[in-house]
Amino acid sequence: MPAKAAQRDPEIAAAAIERLAAARGRDNLYADYDVLRAADPLHRSRHELFPDCWFISRHEDVDRILRDRRFVQDSRNSEVFAGSEGPFAEMVSRILIFLPPGPHERTRQLIYRAFTPQAVARRRPRTEAVIRQLFAGLREGSGCDLLHDVLYPLPMTVIGEMLGASPEERELFFELFGQQGHEVADVGTASDAQREQADRMIERFDEAVRAMIARRREAPGDDLLTTLLTKGEDGDCLEEEEVVAAVYILIGAGHETTANLLGNGLAHLLRDRPQWERLVAAPELVPAAVEELLRFDTSVQFNQRVANEPVRYGGVEIAENDRIIVLLGAANRDPEVFENPHQLDIGRNPNPHLAFGAGLYHCLGLHLARLEMHTALDAIVRHFPKLQLAEAPQWRPTWMMCGLERMPVRF
Ligand code: HEM
Repeated sequence: MPAKAAQRDPEIAAAAIERLAAARGRDNLYADYDVLRAADPLHRSRHELFPDCWFISRHEDVDRILRDRRFVQDSRNSEVFAGSEGPFAEMVSRILIFLPPGPHERTRQLIYRAFTPQAVARRRPRTEAVIRQLFAGLREGSGCDLLHDVLYPLPMTVIGEMLGASPEERELFFELFGQQGHEVADVGTASDAQREQADRMIERFDEAVRAMIARRREAPGDDLLTTLLTKGEDGDCLEEEEVVAAVYILIGAGHETTANLLGNGLAHLLRDRPQWERLVAAPELVPAAVEELLRFDTSVQFNQRVANEPVRYGGVEIAENDRIIVLLGAANRDPEVFENPHQLDIGRNPNPHLAFGAGLYHCLGLHLARLEMHTALDAIVRHFPKLQLAEAPQWRPTWMMCGLERMPVRF
């Protein structure tokens, strides 16, 4: 059943949104989600950053709304954080996640060929080798900033390898996506200088990817880029501009998400010593632990949709063009679905978290993301059972893309 209107207290919920937006971060994140869920689970915001915007915080509502085709993605959403002019805005309006339903389905099918469970399984040995290599330089008894030295390079190295990028091209992507970073991705917070920087980044990215495409057209290989350039079963094929946008979303969507998920998760595990020791003693729990880390503190705290028509839902009237923010992080701590939701439990089963979204736009890279996280966590618990944080974790002052500032550790 959707939430009932009779239980609502919008003022209390508005104060929670105020705190969440002002702190742009972590201090009371999950406590404020509890407040929202209890006080006004379908909350219409009057906040200046979120006008005409509904915040959805219960698991059941988040799941239903993400699967409801009346709530869509399109340029109305991409413009919220990328604007409507300039190379960055143009690129963002073309990426899969912001395509309206028809074009989205076609493009998704053509990209998904490279991300099916079978396609990812085929790349498993190489991906595992690449990740193990990243950990090989770390030594028992030493220390490092795990986030910047290993977790950030990890997804970029994996996707770069899959794309068949040269070491120089990978370096360039790392520099460009590192620069663009979480600020631009955080809704409504990018400054003019950051947008300007993002425009320059897109120009360099576009040039580099088109050069890669030209090489691959001459000499196709067994790589992701070649797959993106190849016709699908029905003879349909992505245009060059669409391939560039696909490469952009594949790098962008897997980079901060995976690195920060591992960073957040390890920070919690290392502070909750009984859970850490339990995992060290039973590394076969790694897959369940990864699901729990996805639930407990996901890197993607919310998704957006826009109402394509007026919708009556759970006793509220959502107007056409109203924006919807589905709070994945709040759904993942909903006590109606998860027992002791604020307790990290690496053996939790079942674990129907929504960290990868749901419905048409759910995470296309989830099989790869799971492979990366399983391999990384397994390597860490097996090789560094005495791992410790060297300082209390500090989260960045962002909301949507949630991650640590840094992660100094001792092995
Ligand atoms: C822990 C890591 C990850 C998390 C938490 C995550 C989360 C998400 C979420 C929540 C969405 C849905 C967005 C929405 O509904 O608006 C999404 C979409 C997407 N993700 Fe991931 N993701 C992760 C890793 C990856 C990786 C490794 C890749 C690929 C290399 C990837 C590629 C994508 C793409 C292409 C979409 C857009 C799908 C579409 O619009 O049809 N993600 N991801």
